Amino acid sequence: MSGAGPPAPKEFAASTSKRLTLVRGSGAHLWDETGRTYIDLGATHGVGNLGSSPPEVVRAIEAQAKELLYLGSGYSNPVRTAFIDRLLSLLPPSFGSVFLSNSGTEAAEAALKVARSVTGRIKVVAAMRGFHGRTMGALSATWRRELKEPFEPLVPGFVHVPFNDAAALETAVDETTALVLLEPVQGEGGVHVASEGYLRAARVATERTGALLAFDEVQTGLGRTGRMFAFERWGVVPDMLLLAKSLAGGLPIGATVVASELVPRFRGSHHSTFGGNPLACAAGLAALDLLVRDHLPERAERLGTRGLAQLAALPPEKVREVRGLGLMIGVEFREKVAPYLAELESRGFLAISAGSTVMRLLPPLVITEEDWKAGLTAIAEVVAGG
Ligand SMILES: Cc1ncc(COP(=O)(O)O)c(C=O)c1O
Repeated sequence: MSGAGPPAPKEFAASTSKRLTLVRGSGAHLWDETGRTYIDLGATHGVGNLGSSPPEVVRAIEAQAKELLYLGSGYSNPVRTAFIDRLLSLLPPSFGSVFLSNSGTEAAEAALKVARSVTGRIKVVAAMRGFHGRTMGALSATWRRELKEPFEPLVPGFVHVPFNDAAALETAVDETTALVLLEPVQGEGGVHVASEGYLRAARVATERTGALLAFDEVQTGLGRTGRMFAFERWGVVPDMLLLAKSLAGGLPIGATVVASELVPRFRGSHHSTFGGNPLACAAGLAALDLLVRDHLPERAERLGTRGLAQLAALPPEKVREVRGLGLMIGVEFREKVAPYLAELESRGFLAISAGSTVMRLLPPLVITEEDWKAGLTAIAEVVAGG
């Protein structure tokens, strides 16, 4: 091979845009290498529901690291048991079993395997604009063409229907369907909230045909939308629930929560070396305790409702729509969002995009009222000046 062309970036496939170097975080504050402070309105991509380095989680990690750093899942461990029990205690009683992994995409892969194994079918119905991860199965469920095309052929059997179109979903789900996989609020796809009746229609269609229903709450779970789990809002309980991101307060983790009645019907095996490691479980236990102790879902609801009301006043000639639930908010512009994000960054506020025209706000649920207010004011100023 010749050495022509630009040198390869040392971080393979990392974003090539100019990136800020951040070195420290606390709550909703992040610091760059020069000591400049930024307010996190989404920089932690939904992992930082509890803020950066929450002290209670850090203490739990330190204590566990001294006790036992790693143990294979073939052995029992009290921290893993306590974490699983705590997670299940927050969920409806139909959920009785958890597969622990290390990321959201792995949580999706496990759900796909459970669905195939339990139903003996392969068809999966997912939604247009949906995002479920980037490993081959999860990527097959993901919608965006440009994410998939270079890696085709993907896993067969995936069908995508328009999100929030109950009739299209009902038509697509039939006796050959293994799984319906949906996000209650589509995150990467632009912050689109499931309409009234849509998730219920998915539940009815899956029950009618013997398919399973899974909600991907990797981004919406754990207080983000103003409920501990977004599905609570609609009162529709799925057969499987996918969690990751903030579940362990910032350490890598994924969880596929499975209805008890599916467990005896599962044939085959599934496993992960690091899934359920004591360090992540100790962090997860502390993180769940914090979410409950500090009523963070309620806080997300309160701050989010205020934020949505304020953002709704953004000028309609610039902003097409503001939508969201709790502290998961999308501001859809009539033009590219990148210049607005750059201007916000220069003012010390870090928000992210969801597609080319949507600004996505995923601040830590612990953000102070003052910081949230300052962020909303900065957005209004940047939009007015843009
Ligand atoms: C809804 C949803 N599912 C799955 C994933 C994949 O998670 P991970 O990046 O941890 O594999 C994401 C990541 O953004 C997500 O938002």
